[in-house]
Amino acid sequence: MLKFAVVGVGMGGAHGANLHQNSGGAGILVAVCDKNPERLQWRVETYAKEINLQVRGYTDFEEMLSKEPLDGVIISTPSGLHHQQAVVAACHKVNTLVDKPMDITLEAVDQIQQAAAKAGILAGVNYGMRHKPAHWNVKQAMQRGDFGKVLLADVRMKWYRDQAYYDKGAWRGTWKMDGGGSLMNQGAHAMDLLTWFAGCRPVRVRGDFAALNHKIETEDWASGIVEFQNGVRSTISTTTNVFPKVDRTYVEIHGTKGSCFIVNDEIVETNIESLQAPNLVTPPHKDAIIDFVHAVKEKRSPLCDLTQGRWSVELILAVYESARQGKTVTLA
Ligand SMILES: NC(=O)c1ccc[n+]([C@@H]2O[C@H](COP(=O)([O-])OP(=O)(O)OC[C@H]3O[C@@H](n4cnc5c(N)ncnc54)[C@H](O)[C@@H]3O)[C@@H](O)[C@H]2O)c1
Repeated sequence: MLKFAVVGVGMGGAHGANLHQNSGGAGILVAVCDKNPERLQWRVETYAKEINLQVRGYTDFEEMLSKEPLDGVIISTPSGLHHQQAVVAACHKVNTLVDKPMDITLEAVDQIQQAAAKAGILAGVNYGMRHKPAHWNVKQAMQRGDFGKVLLADVRMKWYRDQAYYDKGAWRGTWKMDGGGSLMNQGAHAMDLLTWFAGCRPVRVRGDFAALNHKIETEDWASGIVEFQNGVRSTISTTTNVFPKVDRTYVEIHGTKGSCFIVNDEIVETNIESLQAPNLVTPPHKDAIIDFVHAVKEKRSPLCDLTQGRWSVELILAVYESARQGKTVTLA
C-alpha cells in the first residue's frame, strides 16, 4: 500500500481524509504537517476520533520528509508558498500533488517544474473539477471531435464569500500570498477547466478587475477576453459577490457541430448525443486526490500535470497585467 502525507491542514486536512477513505485501499495517509501546532494537534485528534485514522504529526516539513518514507505528498499551504514545499519535496524525491493554483507567479511555477523534472518525480496540480462527470464527458467528446472545431469556450463563476472568509486567513485576498482574489483563488478551478478544454496556452488576454464589496487588497470581481494558441476564444468572469450564496459556475462550449451548456456539474442543454444523459460515462477517478494515488501506483502523471497547471496561472496573471496596463497582453 502506498504511503502519503499532507502539508497544510486547512483544506489539506479534508484531502487527507478523502485519500484515506476513498482510494479503495491503494493509498494510506501516514503523516500530516502544519506549522501551527494547535491546528496540527486538532487535525491529528479529529482523524482519530472521526475516521479512526492514526497519523503522525509534524510541525516541520523537512523533518516529516526525512523521517517518513513517502510515495507522495499533497501540498495545501497558502498558494504563495506552494513552490517552497514543492521544491523541498522534489529534493526528497517524493511525488507531489500541489493544491490549486499551482503557485501565484510564473517564477514560482517554473521553480516547481524545474525541481520536479530534475528529481524525476511525478507531479501535478489538484484540480478536482476535471473529474466531475459533466466536465470529464465534455473533454472526451471534444477529443472525439463531437463538437467539430471548437470556436468558443466561455466561463462565468458567480460565487459568494463573506468578509469573514477573507478575515479568517490573513493570507487571503493579499497579492503576496493569495496572488489575487476571485480569479486566482476560486476562479483557478474554472480557469483550469477552460485551459483543459482549450487544450493549450492562452496567447492574447484583455482583462479588468476590482474589489467591489470586500475589504481586500486584491479583487472580488475579474473579467477577461482570451484567445488561445489554437484560436479558441473565451470570455471569462469570476466574482465572490453574488448574494445570496448559490455558487454557480456556468461553462458554455460552442463548436462547428454543436454546443453544450453546463451549470455547476450538470449539462443542462446540448445537441451532442454523446453528452445526453444515458450516454454519459463515469470518470475513472472521483477527484484529483484519488487520481494522484492511482497516478503514483501506475507511474504516470496526474491528470493535471505541471505543464497544464502553468496554463491557468499564465491566464490569470495576464488578466491582472492587462487591467494594470489598460491594454491587451500578448503572451510570448
Ligand atoms: N482544491 C480545493 O478545492 C481547495 C479548496 C480550498 C483551498 N484550496 C487551496 O489550498 C491551499 C490552502 O488553503 P486553505 O483554505 O486550506 O488555507 P488555510 O489558511 O485554512 O490553511 C493553510 C494551512 O497551512 C499551514 N501552513 C502555512 N505555512 C506552512 C508551512 N510553511 N509549513 C507547514 N504548514 C504551513 C497553516 O498553518 C494553515 O493551517 C490554498 O492554495 C488554496 O487555494 C484548495
